[in-house]
Amino acid sequence: MRQNIIIDTDPGQDDAVAILLALASPELEVLGITCVAGNVPLTKTIYNARQICELSGKIKTPIFAGCDRPMRRDLTTAEHVHGKTGLDGVTLPEPKIKIETTHAVDFIIETLRASPSKSITLCPLGPLTNIGTALKKAPDIADRVQKIVLMGGAYFEVGNITPAAEFNIYVDPEAAEIVFKSGIELIVAPLDVTHKVLTNNEWVSELKTQDNYICNVVAAWTSFFERFDTEKYGTQGAPLHDPCVIAYLIDPDLFAGRSINVEIETKSKLTRGMTVADWWGVTDRSINALFLNNVDAIGYFKLITDRLRKL
Ligand code: RIB
Ligand code: CA
Repeated sequence: MRQNIIIDTDPGQDDAVAILLALASPELEVLGITCVAGNVPLTKTIYNARQICELSGKIKTPIFAGCDRPMRRDLTTAEHVHGKTGLDGVTLPEPKIKIETTHAVDFIIETLRASPSKSITLCPLGPLTNIGTALKKAPDIADRVQKIVLMGGAYFEVGNITPAAEFNIYVDPEAAEIVFKSGIELIVAPLDVTHKVLTNNEWVSELKTQDNYICNVVAAWTSFFERFDTEKYGTQGAPLHDPCVIAYLIDPDLFAGRSINVEIETKSKLTRGMTVADWWGVTDRSINALFLNNVDAIGYFKLITDRLRKL
């Protein structure tokens, strides 16, 4: 049966691949794409989401503008990774599709209230500001969400924006705390798993040689954003973070993890945004997340290529 999903996103090249993967996959019904400030400011994440949907050909996918800053913090962006536009690496045409007039937070609330309970999965790929704001504004929706599959956090892989925190959680730790305390079933794709899906020359070359413009665009995006991580980590490729969320929905058997307690640091200046994961069960804190830490990387990249070719 098709899974109804809402993708919440801050595109970002890796978000873009995740969105394309979702739009190319018959298992998923993308009810809407809600944009949030993160990798780049909201105006750019909206523009990028419009370009990505137009590139996919799925121009009827509703796109919504969400929060332009975290719930209680100044915005931190990541142009150093994604470039000034957030989609550096290739120049796409000016998008024609328009965004919806409803605010993303209201779209999430209204859609959950209007749909059968537990029939929609939320797929956050960026800071959790829209999701946290929706849960704060309408606590009743928590019981109506089927599950949340998100990219964010880190434990053994430590942080990528500070020594302690992964970017999505760091940007809006208060929103993350609301999500992780919501009681909603959580599947978390942290750096512990995304650092095991490093792009590689073979994959990029395969994409480049496809007679498929979308594959060629993804190759160009990858070549751009991997330059930062290869230098930082000294690896051949860069982690392709966000498509892990969508790949999990399509084929969860690609992944493995452990159901544990995860709490969010919101008070400390030094460790703000850290996902404190009780991996060894040393506390009696209640289990609230499936924390993924392993993946069949070959199967992951094969799935992405196979699906993108179909767009
Ligand atoms: O830390 C990686 C995450 O931050 C990814 O979602 C990337 O797109 C950025 O949002
Ligand atoms: Ca993202």
